[in-house]
Amino acid sequence: MTVEHNESILIVDFGSQVTQLIARRVREAGVYSEIAPFTTAREAFERMKPQGIILSGSPASVLTEGSPRVPQEIFDSGLPILGICYGQQTMTHQLGGEVVLGDSGEFGQAFVDVVEGCALFDGLWQVGEKHQVWMSHGDKVTRLADGFRAVAVSPGAPHAVIANDDKRYYAMQFHPEVVHTPDGARLLANFVRHVCGLHGEWTMAEFRAAKIAEIRAQVGSGRVICGLSGGVDSAVAAVLIHEAIGEQLTCVFVDHGLMRSGEADQVVSLFRGHYNIPLVHVNAETLFLGGLAGLTDPEAKRKFIGKTFIEVFEDEAKKIGGADFLAQGTLYPDVIESVSFTGGPSVTIKSHHNVGGLPERMNMKLVEPLRELFKDEVRELGRELGLPDIFVGRHPFPGPGLAIRIPGEVTKERCDILRKADAIYLEEIRNAGLYDAIWQAFAVLLPVRSVGVMGDGRTYDNVLALRAVTSTDGMTAVAFQFPGDFLPRVATRIVNEVRGVNRVTYDYTSKPPGTIEWE
Ligand code: XMP
Repeated sequence: MTVEHNESILIVDFGSQVTQLIARRVREAGVYSEIAPFTTAREAFERMKPQGIILSGSPASVLTEGSPRVPQEIFDSGLPILGICYGQQTMTHQLGGEVVLGDSGEFGQAFVDVVEGCALFDGLWQVGEKHQVWMSHGDKVTRLADGFRAVAVSPGAPHAVIANDDKRYYAMQFHPEVVHTPDGARLLANFVRHVCGLHGEWTMAEFRAAKIAEIRAQVGSGRVICGLSGGVDSAVAAVLIHEAIGEQLTCVFVDHGLMRSGEADQVVSLFRGHYNIPLVHVNAETLFLGGLAGLTDPEAKRKFIGKTFIEVFEDEAKKIGGADFLAQGTLYPDVIESVSFTGGPSVTIKSHHNVGGLPERMNMKLVEPLRELFKDEVRELGRELGLPDIFVGRHPFPGPGLAIRIPGEVTKERCDILRKADAIYLEEIRNAGLYDAIWQAFAVLLPVRSVGVMGDGRTYDNVLALRAVTSTDGMTAVAFQFPGDFLPRVATRIVNEVRGVNRVTYDYTSKPPGTIEWE
């Protein structure tokens, strides 16, 4: 079940790498949007009853037999349509124009000349101006379908932007959704507001109210159980559900002893003290550390933690008499069914840990109130619900916790060393005002010892690696560049204050080829 939105835009996905960004830009313009793969676009269209359609890019070519098409219903609906890149090509092809295989293509930065006005350019681009855009295409439109005119041109694309004002169809060869098209967000906002005539009133307050009504309708008088991980997503989901159904919700926090310094206390005091939400706090440190003893292989550690987490959670759920629903903080990027043109399952790099499998085993239905939101929208909803900023703005933290930041065997002693060093590192990052500029920062305790000299004595102790990355979604990342004296200061503090560490290094690897976590 999903919330009914008064104003919405359907994005038909043809498999572009950047389709999610179109949804982001439309939501930034204040209109709710959803992505549907072209294969299920017809159903999504009937369910959503949108006021406008956007067609995404694609790695495919319209000239290839069997390549994706826009469902005819969408053209028959009379609604405004915006085609982007492949979207422009398939629109042109399906409406009777001509697309040819480009002999060279245009990739990267390009400039378009505005030759005529149109609703997309309102208040933004004037005739005679030149504007920077980001192109990525091989094929191109060579003859327009009836009723279209070219309103912007580029050296590689004579039909860089085209318009059919009567039908309210617009299309562009470049990608307005990426930041390398500086006016792209405003072009998309013009489509949503000026062409589709939407008011753009989608706010988090509206979302919160609608979601609460939806949760009440879904759950009725049933009981809901929610696993808290200590992270933002499950906390926001729990607070929202509690606002909807109060005491029908019980939260279970399985404390595996692999949390950062003070983190478990923070979760418990926030839920019990601040929100007065029923919370079962299971201290399972001994169980987890006992089972991790002797395990050194990263996947073996991950699998043990995942399995044990589910067992403990299940036991606790039974103790409180079971539940009809399991609440999870699943986000939109996890539910988008992206279209694959290469086929075949992708390689498992790391088995991510979650509570998968539980709902069937315990005969529970899922409540996933965040499944339409992106990470930063979840943070905004958290603030809207009154969660403290320090909690909402937290860096992501992996389910298996510190265990995957201690390559080799995990022991209580090594967890304690890492916790102390990590706390110093994060404190310095906060003091320097850098916390929010970083996607994730943490320390890794290496299974390596090095020789040092402290006072007049020799030391032979642990080596620590510091990691900090910037990223937008965790899929790719680059190492954060700290100002000159920052890292030496942190290294000195850690070696002086944390017994057991005598050397500190910094990890400059980006993802790919590295990953963010070390295991
Ligand atoms: P990697 O290391 O794969 O991490 O580059 C990408 C992002 O995912 C987080 N991560 C996890 N999160 N369970 C989680 O909930 C996991 O098992 C897990 N492993 C990695 C990681 O912290 C980063 O944000």
